Amino acid sequence: SVVILDFGSQFTRLIARRFRELGAYSVILPGTASLERIAQENPQGIVLSGGPSSVYDANAPRPAPGVLDLAVPILGVCYGMQFLAHEAGGDVKRAGKREYGKADLTRYGGQLFAGIQGEFVAWMSHSDSVTQLPQGYEVVAETEDTPVAAIENPVTHRYGVQFHPEVVHTPKGGQMLANFLEICGVARDWNAEHIIEELIGGVRAQVEGGRVLLAISGGVDSSTLGLLLSRAIGDRLTAVFIDHGLLRLGEREQVEAALRPLGVNLVTVDAREEFLGALAGVSDPEQKRKIIGREFIRAFEREARKYGPFDFLAQGTLYPDVIESAGGEGAANIKSHHNVGGLPEDLAFKLVEPFRTLFKDEVREIARLLGLPDHIRMRHPFPGPGLAIRCLGEVTPEKLDILKRVDDIFISGLREFGLYDGCSQALAVLTPIQSVGVMGDERTYSYTTALRAVTTDDFMTAEWARLPYDFLATMSNRIVNQVHEINRVVYDITGKPPATIEWE
Ligand code: XMP
Repeated sequence: SVVILDFGSQFTRLIARRFRELGAYSVILPGTASLERIAQENPQGIVLSGGPSSVYDANAPRPAPGVLDLAVPILGVCYGMQFLAHEAGGDVKRAGKREYGKADLTRYGGQLFAGIQGEFVAWMSHSDSVTQLPQGYEVVAETEDTPVAAIENPVTHRYGVQFHPEVVHTPKGGQMLANFLEICGVARDWNAEHIIEELIGGVRAQVEGGRVLLAISGGVDSSTLGLLLSRAIGDRLTAVFIDHGLLRLGEREQVEAALRPLGVNLVTVDAREEFLGALAGVSDPEQKRKIIGREFIRAFEREARKYGPFDFLAQGTLYPDVIESAGGEGAANIKSHHNVGGLPEDLAFKLVEPFRTLFKDEVREIARLLGLPDHIRMRHPFPGPGLAIRCLGEVTPEKLDILKRVDDIFISGLREFGLYDGCSQALAVLTPIQSVGVMGDERTYSYTTALRAVTTDDFMTAEWARLPYDFLATMSNRIVNQVHEINRVVYDITGKPPATIEWE
């Protein structure tokens, strides 16, 4: 494996993803992880990530003593390179100004650049620079503004790059990371088949003869987990899908049709009345979320008792939720609403979380091999509280019914026009605004719906999707023609920040 020591760069996770895409297993540990912790991962190579600190800061994070002496190749990126150089006796100075953006390497060579030819565009983001090389090192790349853009010690296999090979703005950076793997001698056999085998083995070993309960949401993670567990333990898995009435049109049927034929022991529960009853008269968004969370636990508990006893609860926790890293602050908290928390004592399960080491794209690859249909495999995320937070104000069966039809026209339209995969998430909102319109000879006074589509990498920030006008025109026509309760369609052109993706 490759161990990436994280010193707080926003790009650290990308480094791990790039190695995984190259077929090499890699893990992220905090920059200050102990030698023992690092040794547990059997590292064949180590990467020191970038980070916001300067090597001269009094509290600059440092690798544990002994890490830099390990007899494996080490690659320092940005801060990591400065740290390597500084520790080995070189000099690092604050540059006059921060260098940020694309830069052309005016020359490059050496082991990390092996096989790379032609123009090399590198993404820079730094304010410190190596100004004097330590003994045994040579400069192997430079740009106009950065005379020391990459260094190496070919004997000890220590490498440093001032730019970020892991980002897409460094198009040939992937080859450098592949070269690093080659130098480390890391096997490139981390692929979906291999992962499935390992996960199935792991689940069988953990669960032994026990029974496992899983909540299926209809999203890719829990659906894929259902497939994997059913392969691993057959009917000792009970997968429960709770229909809270806040789902998209036909969603329950879709999930059933996708999972049952593949052998998943799936129970679907019609809890629509309970949820809608509990939501009646409530219009505060946070209150709505709380009620849905509470009702979910209540329904889930009931099903657990009905089909139990169970020894384990399975969850589709992913690697980004659990990375123990400097930069991954609170990632686990952000998603806490996905977890089934607060179950009573007598339902105290042990957790099975086979996807804890995986990124989302790896889960999608596994899903493909396990036969999950593409419309679920490549589905946009859908919030736990579902359409309740897109039905502004009080949720009523009538409003939900309107919203479901609008949403279906919009999402089906995106698929039909080949625009779905280009958006990260798309949704329709039913606003409480009623306005005057005219249909035929008649004056109408009906609802306004807002369509929203965004592109984003991490859902923390997002841009509104530049959907073609003609497509929006078609959607608007279809919606007002097919959904008579709507006489006005607007498109949300606000980024996040300042807006959020959802309207509530
Ligand atoms: P916002 O609206 O905060 O959404 O920009 C960011 C992402 O999180 C999803 N989201 C939720 N998911 N329960 C969930 O499971 C929630 O209460 C919730 N609120 C927002 C949202 O759909 C988007 O993908």
